[in-house]
Amino acid sequence: MNVDSSIVAKDVVKTFYLRGQQVEAVAQMSFAAAKGEFVSLVGPSGCGKSTLLKMVADILPPTRGTIEIDGGTPHEARRRRTFGMVFQDPVLLPWRTALDNVALPLEIVENRKPNSYKSPRDLLHLVGLNGFEKALPWQLSGGMKQRVAIARALVLNPTVLLLDEPFGALDEITRQRLNIDLLRIWSESRTTALLVTHSISEAVLLSDRVLVMSPRPARVIKDVAITLPRPRTLDMLQHKDFFDLMAETTAALYQSFEWATASDTQGVS
Ligand SMILES: Nc1ncnc2c1ncn2[C@@H]1O[C@H](COP(=O)(O)OP(=O)(O)OP(=O)(O)O)[C@@H](O)[C@H]1O
Ligand SMILES: [Mg+2]
Repeated sequence: MNVDSSIVAKDVVKTFYLRGQQVEAVAQMSFAAAKGEFVSLVGPSGCGKSTLLKMVADILPPTRGTIEIDGGTPHEARRRRTFGMVFQDPVLLPWRTALDNVALPLEIVENRKPNSYKSPRDLLHLVGLNGFEKALPWQLSGGMKQRVAIARALVLNPTVLLLDEPFGALDEITRQRLNIDLLRIWSESRTTALLVTHSISEAVLLSDRVLVMSPRPARVIKDVAITLPRPRTLDMLQHKDFFDLMAETTAALYQSFEWATASDTQGVS
């Protein structure tokens, strides 16, 4: 066990079987995220990013290899409520208010230890939705719904936040504003964040490290250290250092296509 690492993936492989055909989604993927670090995964569509996040979240088992979260298996981490997860689609219960959606995990958790959890009301405040406690999901914009989903992911006080394209469905301006909010929430809640995104600018703006993945089967082909100072601000989108890091990440992503194997071109129809 590595005490400084929050997430450690070692030689993780995931192979799916689809209508008799084998699809290798993740190949020998290894990486580590330190406690409190913000790490992003970028890679071409279909390369295996969501599959990797689902293995970290104990939604899917790896075919081979190991994943550790805070020194335990993903299954143990799920039982201990070590991580919260946010998907591209916020999946709120439509008949529940924003406050009751955030509170939902508290109602279904076993071994309730109320003091170790956060107040749904405080979390709605943290995500900038004070005054909307009683709103129903249809009365909220896409960005507001996603904020509710982030608050819900934090209610059990996780040490790790797993984010799969959380703002993918939103327009660019809303997305960048929410990104800055996400950074504030991340630093205030002192979690480790693992973010999957298609957007290189988003990854560079938010992260301590950006891991560039190859086309399927996914592996990490470049680990870019993002040396921009914190707190990050939207002005940084105009800085030369930001452009240089974008260029470095983009070059790695394009180079990654050389890693594509013959299995990539077969697809599944
Ligand atoms: N449950 C499943 N059964 C079979 N194949 C799957 C399953 N889930 C994913 N795959 C396949 O694994 C590969 C990787 O999918 P994944 O959803 O991880 O990609 P992704 O990198 O998240 O893509 P995107 O950026 O478009 O969200 C794809 O070829 C997909 O068809
Ligand atoms: Mg995905």
